[in-house]
Amino acid sequence: MAIKAVLRMGDPRLLEISAAVSNFDTPELHQLVKDLMDTMRAEDGAGLAAPQIAVGLRVVVFGFDENERYPDAEPVPQTVLINPLIEVLAEEREDGWEGCLSVPGLMGVVSRYTHIRYSGYDPFGKPIEREAQHFHARVVQHECDHLDGILYPQQMSDMRRFGFTEVLQPGG
Ligand code: NI
Repeated sequence: MAIKAVLRMGDPRLLEISAAVSNFDTPELHQLVKDLMDTMRAEDGAGLAAPQIAVGLRVVVFGFDENERYPDAEPVPQTVLINPLIEVLAEEREDGWEGCLSVPGLMGVVSRYTHIRYSGYDPFGKPIEREAQHFHARVVQHECDHLDGILYPQQMSDMRRFGFTEVLQPGG
């Protein structure tokens, strides 16, 4: 296990554009993926991006069967996605609550596309391509934003719907 410290909002490294991975199936890349997975699970996150553990590479992990933070969310397949690309398949967007391990204790409503196709590579360099809708699509958009230095509060349009989780969801 290698649980890494997650950078918090305010750290300038979270605002950088991450670099594409050019070498697959290397010990360093496999270690990074393991660190991301271990950290995401230890923190009960729905996803985690490499820059959140201070690695400026275009690598995200996400997925869960069920998640305490999002009790109503449908399961999202456990995925490692490298050098991701997102294609928007419908202009429709929907509002939904998001949190982020880099913005602990807070939640906010963000508008996201409801239907996307995403592509990229697994750690061995094998291509991945999937369609995703609703919460799955939301998680992918949130994680990929991290690779461009964007945290979800930057995507919010109504700061009245931003607050502390324990106030918004008293009693958990
Ligand atoms: Ni996040």
